Amino acid sequence: MMLKAGIVGAGDWGKNLVRVFYQIRDVELAYCCDADGNRRKAVSQLFPGVCLTSRFEDILADASVQAVIIASSAITHYEFAKAALEAGKHVYVEKPLALSVAHAEEMVALADSKNLKLMVGHLLVYHPAVSHLRKMVESGELGEVFYIYSQRVNLGKIRQDENALWSFAPHDISVILHLLGQLPVSVSARGESYLREGVEDVVFVNMKFRDRKMAQLQLSWLDPHKIRKITIVGSKKMVVFDDVESTEKLKIFDKGVSGVSYESYGDSLTLRFGDINIPHINMTEPLRAECQHFVDCVLHDKQPMTGGNDGLRVVRIIEAAEHSMKHDGEPVRLPESLAAERT
Ligand SMILES: NC(=O)c1ccc[n+]([C@@H]2O[C@H](COP(=O)([O-])OP(=O)(O)OC[C@H]3O[C@@H](n4cnc5c(N)ncnc54)[C@H](O)[C@@H]3O)[C@@H](O)[C@H]2O)c1
Repeated sequence: MMLKAGIVGAGDWGKNLVRVFYQIRDVELAYCCDADGNRRKAVSQLFPGVCLTSRFEDILADASVQAVIIASSAITHYEFAKAALEAGKHVYVEKPLALSVAHAEEMVALADSKNLKLMVGHLLVYHPAVSHLRKMVESGELGEVFYIYSQRVNLGKIRQDENALWSFAPHDISVILHLLGQLPVSVSARGESYLREGVEDVVFVNMKFRDRKMAQLQLSWLDPHKIRKITIVGSKKMVVFDDVESTEKLKIFDKGVSGVSYESYGDSLTLRFGDINIPHINMTEPLRAECQHFVDCVLHDKQPMTGGNDGLRVVRIIEAAEHSMKHDGEPVRLPESLAAERT
């Protein structure tokens, strides 16, 4: 079985999706749409046989196209995904799914009503190191997960139509929800726009979960360091996922505190400084795994691991963080019914 697909957006990130979908054996990448002639030219030179267009409607008008991949700027996601679903196409959309909860809900409902796949590009969920982390959490190797913090900072691409929160947070939030299996009960955030009025370059987000769990994100494209790290502190072990490292992606610290007794507190605490273990991770390209997963879901009618509802949960948290950020960091509570929802 072959999947005939078209892609919109062949920019800095989209060109990677063009490459990967072009290489997948079960896919015929029939169209690539980009408003920018230079981007189209670059695709035509590298990927012969792909029909190039500046008009998204050209892809929708071809009834033989079954799936559309949306990798254009975030502000276009809702409009393009909605049009593609209405035209009866399965949709893969880059993160963030949409820029508001209302739009994301509408997309999920539309895909459901038409029985079409809607998948969001939460890339890190397909990262072999994150799969390893999830196994560690599920098997109890880390003990009780106490808190998680992530740092995603560099001196990098400064966007104008979305802030650092919408641009970076989907990565870390999707991983945190994947690991904890629950939504936060409250979210707060602070951010500042240093380079362009109204577009925050630096954002700090705090999330509070049930069972005393906490998570914090540091997001910035105005920073001297290039850091992409997630640290998880559990009652038995602590682990760091460093995605900038080329091979040693995970470091597991057999460190902790045991013997907490409230009768003679100070005396009974034992600090444990054990070994640092670097597990071998069989690295496969996360993007390839993600794109292949979308193809398999469409061809074999499976539920995507990062479906529309996962995209919606992430958008819900970011929207709450955005609200908090605009109100001086005031915490925003998410409905209890959502916090109880398994992710
Ligand atoms: N999963 C990841 O790791 C990851 C990494 C980077 C970016 N992204 C996401 O990918 C998307 C694109 O990011 P990017 O860095 O490639 O941005 P970009 O600005 O480099 O590329 C966007 C492309 O979309 C095209 N485009 C915009 N509006 C269009 C329209 N109406 N019709 C046709 N073409 C249009 C532009 O011409 C441009 O080539 C964003 O949603 C971003 O969040 C994901």
